[in-house]
Amino acid sequence: NDRFLSKVRKGFVEVGEDNVCVPLYYEKYQEKIKKFEVRDSDVYVVAHPKTGTTWAQEMIWLIMNNFDYEGATKDILKRFPTLEANSHVDVDIANLDMYYGQNYMSYLEEMSNPRCIKSHLHWSLLPEQITNGTKKPKIITVLRSAEDTCVSFYHHSKLMEGYTGTFDEYCQLFLAGRSCYGPFWKSVLSLWNERHRPNILFIKYIDMKKDLAGVIRKVAAFLERDLNDETVDGLVKHLSFESMKNNPAVNLQFVVDVFAPVFNMTTAKTPFIRRGIVGGYKTEMSDEQIEEFRKWTQKELEGTELDVE
Ligand code: A3P
Repeated sequence: NDRFLSKVRKGFVEVGEDNVCVPLYYEKYQEKIKKFEVRDSDVYVVAHPKTGTTWAQEMIWLIMNNFDYEGATKDILKRFPTLEANSHVDVDIANLDMYYGQNYMSYLEEMSNPRCIKSHLHWSLLPEQITNGTKKPKIITVLRSAEDTCVSFYHHSKLMEGYTGTFDEYCQLFLAGRSCYGPFWKSVLSLWNERHRPNILFIKYIDMKKDLAGVIRKVAAFLERDLNDETVDGLVKHLSFESMKNNPAVNLQFVVDVFAPVFNMTTAKTPFIRRGIVGGYKTEMSDEQIEEFRKWTQKELEGTELDVE
């Protein structure tokens, strides 16, 4: 795996009992993230990368902000920032403070209510006030199959992490828990094990594809926000694959265009909002890879009652 890992731009660091693979500069910010002052009014999306996080963020932001489509033209990185975003950035090259116009952690701290914050961290790495339950912000997590997540992450890694290995090598990294924020099932289960908490909601990518209006209603009920048929219809249209793909505030194309070259990240031209389907892996993985994933998922999920499909 180390051989494959070397094909990721600079590799990752491992932390905690689950050997969570976190971005290279995470440890520098770990303490600040742990001690982050949480507010009960916050809303967090906590999900493994490539499960549909951005899709869920846009839905949640609009529900929380009374369908302010004008406000939603501001880029999502500013409306719905990532708790641990600093950990991705090599400060010798650039830093987030320039982009946010102030110290990034202060930006998070000073956001007005209701704050919407994203994280890809495993449960045990989230702010202590969340894990010890002293604060009870709403937390939404998105579930997607390991196969589609892995395929999506492979393309993302070429786009954003300078990955130069083959697809099969990437699958091996993912299965071994050595892709960023992996091990995948340990990440998912770290939240699943907290499902008894009333402030956690699970949504599935597959349900968003099948019945987006239904998921919007469920999420709005969880967030205690009112909806009517018209607002649901408007949001379904806004969140369609085509609409999101063409929306510069959420398609992250500017990250690819502006940041990727600075950090020497890009080895591919696939867009961030790429295919947006369920089961796309069936045309991208070999039968052997599919079988390997099936067995692995079966083993990892045994006895957990978790079903992502
Ligand atoms: P694919 O690479 O399979 O297309 P994340 O935001 O967690 O990084 O997830 C990215 C994945 O969500 C990508 O999957 C992307 O295309 C998909 N996605 C984003 N917006 C979507 C939408 N409106 N409808 C369906 N899929 C969407």
